[in-house]
Amino acid sequence: MKELEKIEKSIIEQLDVVEGLDALEKIRVQALGKKGLITETMRSLAKMELEERKLFGKQINLLKLKITNLINEKRELINGFGLKTKLKSEFLDLSLPADLELDGAIHPISQVIQEVSLIFGEMGFDIADGPDIEDDWHNFTALNIPPEHPARQMHDTFYIEKRDNKKTSDSIDVLRTHTSPVQVRTMISSIPPINIIVPGRTYRSDSDQTHTPMFHQVEGLVIDEKSHMGHLKGCLVEFVKRFFNLDEVNYRFRPSYFPFTEPSAEMDIGCIREGNKIVLKGDQDWLEILGCGMVNPIVLENCGVDSNKYQGFAFGVGIDRIAMLKYGMPDLRSFFESDLRWLRHYGFSQFDFPPNARKGSF
Ligand code: PHE
Repeated sequence: MKELEKIEKSIIEQLDVVEGLDALEKIRVQALGKKGLITETMRSLAKMELEERKLFGKQINLLKLKITNLINEKRELINGFGLKTKLKSEFLDLSLPADLELDGAIHPISQVIQEVSLIFGEMGFDIADGPDIEDDWHNFTALNIPPEHPARQMHDTFYIEKRDNKKTSDSIDVLRTHTSPVQVRTMISSIPPINIIVPGRTYRSDSDQTHTPMFHQVEGLVIDEKSHMGHLKGCLVEFVKRFFNLDEVNYRFRPSYFPFTEPSAEMDIGCIREGNKIVLKGDQDWLEILGCGMVNPIVLENCGVDSNKYQGFAFGVGIDRIAMLKYGMPDLRSFFESDLRWLRHYGFSQFDFPPNARKGSF
């Protein structure tokens, strides 16, 4: 008997001070393992008389149970404690102000794409996408710009050899000269009603203060059974007001020509020029910001859309141009020169909301 009490006392003493799972496992092996204290003691039962064996056997089993429970409790304690210390060491106070020393900024183009997407997103438009390398058919022919059409020259197209290099009559691809080929791709792959915008890169062989070989557009396309020029106008006027944060805007829709829209128009906004600066007010001067029109039925048919049933409008906005206007950047070329000083000056903080975001947009 005395023996069992001694064993119990020594194990409990060790358990009281143990720290860590490895040490606990050692104690378990020493007590309950094959050659452990309790197991060894059990072996001595064999040499005992029946009565004594019964009593001793029961006590030793109780001790075994008690120690097993104590070890399990201890293990849970250590695990829990481990979790607590881990949680404590990994604690991150999300309410602290962010480390504004962080380098890097949002490029004005990304910012403007975000702003534009937000405004049209709230109007119910989805965002669509297409490839930068297009074939001639999507970029021109399907949009009612057949070969030899003068509009092809106007686009200063970058022609590139097809990657599969098969020398067929259409072995030439283009870098898309506008985002309009995504109109074609969307009409082919979906059933109206369609409401999409397509922000993306476009390419033309041109470079001066207001042109770069790579630039950005956002295309818009609405196809349903009854959208008309009035909807087009309302949608774009609302967009311009929201984008430039204006309560009132002077605008005009000037008749224009695009092979893929009929009728076509360009939207100008009223402005005054103060030296190098352009201010959006009055009607002294006009600034063209986008092209638009009702989708030409020929284009609908080219894309497998029934032009007797469906109609709609499209528009294309120069993102770089509206970014320059809104944020007062005089030269488009500096957008793409990766000059850190320019980026730091004109870039946006990652933590800013787009200025025209409505409460609850995020
Ligand atoms: N794709 C035209 C351009 O790049 C813009 C446009 C888009 C005009 C859609 C009308 C409709 O100039």
